[in-house]
Amino acid sequence: MSRIDSLLHAMTLEEKLGQLNLVTAGQAVTGPVVCGDTTKDIAAGRVAGVFNLWDLEALMRAQRCAVQESRLGVPLLFGLDVLHGFRTIFSIPLAEAGAFDPQLWERTACAAALEAASEGIHLTFAPMLDVSRDPRWGRIAEGPGEDPLVGERFAQAKIRGFQGDDFSRIFPLAATAKHFCAGGAATAGRDYAAVDVSERALHEVYLPPFRAAVEAGCAAVMTAFNNVNGVPMSAQGRLLNGYLRSRLKFDGVIMSDYTAIAELVEHGVAADSIEAAAIALKAGVDMDMVSGVYLAHLPEALARGLVEERDIDVAVARVLQLKKRLGLFDDPYRVARLDDSVKETHCILALEAARRSATLLINRGLLPLSANLRRIAVVGPLADSGADMLGPWSAAGGAENCVTILEGLRRALPYCEIAHHSGVAIEGDDESGIAPAFALAEGADAVVLCLGEAARMSGEAACRASLGLPGKQRQLAERVMSAGAPTVALLSCGRPLAVPWLFKRAQAVVAAWFLGHRAGEAIADILTGRFNPSARLAVTWPCDVGQVPIFYSARSTGRPFDAANFYTSRYLDCSNDPQFPFGHGLSFSRTTLSNLRVDCAELKTSQTTRVRVDVCNESDIATEETIFLFARDRVASVARPLMELKDWKKIALQPQQGATIDFVLCAQAFQFPGENMEPTVEPGGVDIFVGFSADAEKLLSARLRIVSA
Ligand code: GLC
Repeated sequence: MSRIDSLLHAMTLEEKLGQLNLVTAGQAVTGPVVCGDTTKDIAAGRVAGVFNLWDLEALMRAQRCAVQESRLGVPLLFGLDVLHGFRTIFSIPLAEAGAFDPQLWERTACAAALEAASEGIHLTFAPMLDVSRDPRWGRIAEGPGEDPLVGERFAQAKIRGFQGDDFSRIFPLAATAKHFCAGGAATAGRDYAAVDVSERALHEVYLPPFRAAVEAGCAAVMTAFNNVNGVPMSAQGRLLNGYLRSRLKFDGVIMSDYTAIAELVEHGVAADSIEAAAIALKAGVDMDMVSGVYLAHLPEALARGLVEERDIDVAVARVLQLKKRLGLFDDPYRVARLDDSVKETHCILALEAARRSATLLINRGLLPLSANLRRIAVVGPLADSGADMLGPWSAAGGAENCVTILEGLRRALPYCEIAHHSGVAIEGDDESGIAPAFALAEGADAVVLCLGEAARMSGEAACRASLGLPGKQRQLAERVMSAGAPTVALLSCGRPLAVPWLFKRAQAVVAAWFLGHRAGEAIADILTGRFNPSARLAVTWPCDVGQVPIFYSARSTGRPFDAANFYTSRYLDCSNDPQFPFGHGLSFSRTTLSNLRVDCAELKTSQTTRVRVDVCNESDIATEETIFLFARDRVASVARPLMELKDWKKIALQPQQGATIDFVLCAQAFQFPGENMEPTVEPGGVDIFVGFSADAEKLLSARLRIVSA
């Protein structure tokens, strides 16, 4: 009999339910402690795992309690939201997605895993894989942006980075693909709100990153809070036991989100907590995060015949299997002290990731800043805030060693006088600082405006009905720009901000996002030209919140916009076009594409073909380019989007260097969910588009015909 079977056999019902119980540790004023009653529960074998605790002594105390005091000595699982770093904080995922570099995504996850696992954390509640096209939703900051293919590759890279190859690494961090699924389409962009998406949208947009995560071997999946198409995800057996387990053969742990099982009562699908516990278990949810309803109410559900003991045993076995895969039975206290050289490499990686995540949106010749500048005014509430540079979910990252924008500029320009005034707060109505800030700008050779959001205005429960700058920042920016000094605006934010007035007036604008510990240096490197910006937008940037949801892979309409025809799809008061399209981003170099060609114009469903394009760096600055390949199937049984991302390539080019980019496409690249949602490839013509963004007017195009084998 295996260790797991013998443990199961030995467990009382309460001990079994204890292995389905995931609790959060209280963060007391005097430091992190495991809540008093939790310690008692751990000793009684009523706790499977603890999260939100990273104080090593507290972790070890809790683990000793489980291993030495509980009857069967089953070790605890320690979890934490390690999304973009543990001690060393990297760019937020939405920004890092803009590097379009799976190797970078994997490297930062690997670094985070090493830091967290060496300090006793076993499981991260990441990667967050919610595709989203709605910047009102604060959690867009945590995910891979608007595109399912980016989401798929982001999932694969992050899970490889966290877990290594099948937990082979000495310090793996078990990954949790979350939030399953479609939370990014919450009504009105509001957290926790209901989601109504078509079955087609589920299969074309929201499920693919989770399919990729399961294929990449993720250890766990977390259910979303939301009601999706009438059924809360923690009760959605069709997608949990149905899609994840039966269709994708996922055999890892499914956990609820925080108190989500108890919330089934509020959702209106369970009369009480007993029913909630039964519904969630039967739907496929193995672990109950924080609500405690499995522990407290599954015995009654069992007694009423709402669940069988086998349902419980299957869930417990999966949790024990995860603990076994993590080696917890062999070494429950496994920690290590990381060598300083390792921390240094992570610090270097943080700068690389930050540099490659910042997006140059506009540049009217101001950047790179001239080395002859004598006096720069750094104005705005985000100039000197280390904590905000870390963004949401900064785990154990401390703001004390974060390099702010102001500090980064002072380090980069030691001979330039850099004057600073915050002007206004991030939020609030106090405008008294605008006048002194204006005075600074009047006397400056250039102005760096540091605008944006507080870190807490992104992430969970941080939705905004407006996409403008909070507080009185617009008043500050307009007053300061009226001084007439050349101005570069930096937007520190977790979402695209609809500030067309700023894009019109500033000589340059950089989406600085929340770039982590090395934010200030990365931004300074871009402003001074030490680094040639290369990030591209992983999300469409709206002009106005009224356009949301806005995304490049929309379906056509029978009446596409036509300026000459009143009765076409448009607004009376706003353009249909975004401020910036998916994939937008500028560099200081100038690169061109030419000579798009397809090797074989007819592609049999069993064959592959090559699509090639020549690329040339026509400048004297080395560059890193991202070249996207989109496709459109103009006639199919189900209308296909105007464009769908089918692949992208990264290439580094030295000055004046040219190269040929080679895409290999098989017919399956054009498959889509057919009428019955099964993958289908239909013969017919397909347009191929290649370019630097989803800006249709700037893409090279070619034709391909898919023919039956
Ligand atoms: C939160 C979040 C989820 C996180 C969990 C544990 O409510 O929705 O993303 O992993 O709780 O902190």
